[in-house]
Amino acid sequence: MPDAVRGRSPARGRAAERPRAAEDPGAAIRDSGRMTQTTPAHHENGTAPPAARFDAAVRAAVQQGLLGEDGPVAGFIDTEGVRASVGTLHDAFAATPGVLHTFAAKACSLIPVLRLLADCGMGCEVASPGELRLALEAGFAASRIVLDSPAKTREEIRLALALGVAVNADSLDELRRIDALRNPGTASVLGLRVNPQVGGGAIGPMSTATDTAKFGVALRDPGAREAIVGAFRERPWLTRLHAHVGSQGCPLELIAAGVAQTYELAEEINATLGVRQVTSLDIGGGLPVNFADETVHPAYTDYVAALTAAAPGLFSGRYLLVTEFGRSLLAKNGFIGARVEYTKDAGGRRIALTHAGAQTATRTVLMPDAWPLRIGAFGPDGNPKTGPVLPQDIAGPCCFAGDVVAYGRELPELAEDDVVVLYDTGAYYFSTPWAYNSLQRPAVYGFRTVAGQSTTGQGGPGHDGAAVTFTTVRDAQSMDAIAAESGLAHADALIERGV
Ligand SMILES: Cc1ncc(COP(=O)(O)O)c(C=O)c1O
Repeated sequence: MPDAVRGRSPARGRAAERPRAAEDPGAAIRDSGRMTQTTPAHHENGTAPPAARFDAAVRAAVQQGLLGEDGPVAGFIDTEGVRASVGTLHDAFAATPGVLHTFAAKACSLIPVLRLLADCGMGCEVASPGELRLALEAGFAASRIVLDSPAKTREEIRLALALGVAVNADSLDELRRIDALRNPGTASVLGLRVNPQVGGGAIGPMSTATDTAKFGVALRDPGAREAIVGAFRERPWLTRLHAHVGSQGCPLELIAAGVAQTYELAEEINATLGVRQVTSLDIGGGLPVNFADETVHPAYTDYVAALTAAAPGLFSGRYLLVTEFGRSLLAKNGFIGARVEYTKDAGGRRIALTHAGAQTATRTVLMPDAWPLRIGAFGPDGNPKTGPVLPQDIAGPCCFAGDVVAYGRELPELAEDDVVVLYDTGAYYFSTPWAYNSLQRPAVYGFRTVAGQSTTGQGGPGHDGAAVTFTTVRDAQSMDAIAAESGLAHADALIERGV
């Protein structure tokens, strides 16, 4: 495999002011010591319902030492839940022939997770050389990989074309680069991303279809439509249109409106050129996730209904469809577990100091209004805590005052050795940590539960008779790895004798 892999710095947002508890939108979301409802969109398939699976997993993780003194924070992925979520996606689009569902690798950039998704019949959307490498290592066929990203280098494009990976150009300038690099024999499907400029959602930085968003060709700008039609006319090999209207915070109607604009553009191009040159539409991902409680909504079927209403011709079979969902497939199938190291009172406020902070819940800490998380409280034995509740801040280990994942949450009183659970963190949380304070990247485990059974060996009896089996997805980062990534090999580089 060609080595085109380069590192990229993790995204850093502007640190938000610490909100007063009364202003904390997260305070309105439902916390609990245990989850009490099942999640209707999941298939049962003989496994315990999701709420029971998570309780069982927390308890088993504590009992098996995956969470505790030696493992103060870890991410957990419910593999049966992932399979069930992929099933609901496939079912929702089942009436339409020729849909390639790709998983947005950025949402959970872990090779075993990507391989699980490949095994479930997904393709993969990648947005960097690193993600492309992960997708290939996970075993996705090149023909099932789609490369997006607004800043592809020539080398990145060359590699994708050589492999036969589909490429969505982000601009007309990028199309000109492809002109120069493209071998006529390439197996790559080539497309152009447009920004339908249908507006933003509730979270500004996640809204990719505003007038001034950086992605794609801004469709409503003067002259843009004509330029796009012309670009297709000049390139008979350009056969796909792509749009991704936004992630989280965008209502279904907004996303559907953006897809409808893209569909209408495809019809216009084909009508103008007098040939069905645009044969596929990549409609992106972006289905929002409900972080307020454990229910799954909106569902993929709601999205298909919204799309059908906005663009009835989309499902006519005239276009192959590609989707790129990330958060909606993984968020509710994962959680972070973290040990409570200390508790303290400050200015009349109770604070639990845990190991889950900005290094693993970066968006929540830096943009608490936009990304509130539900918190669960568990005892040192891994069982849900009960008893009177009191407002508590759940703080992390990072050395800045705003490193708080939840403010003033009404939870049973937390104490040293307890465990807190950050729900709905299966996408964009533990899989994409921030290296602040040289904190270890947490370990990630996959788990399976089987209701009413118990096992020995790797697994063990969990809650309510559910057997839980864990497998390692990623080891916790070692101190040697932290030192190596921090320039150990060049330790003398900046002192006199090293120059
Ligand atoms: C081009 C593209 N496709 C798909 C996604 C995945 O979005 P989501 O995780 O909201 O489904 C993203 C997210 O940023 C994206 O930029």
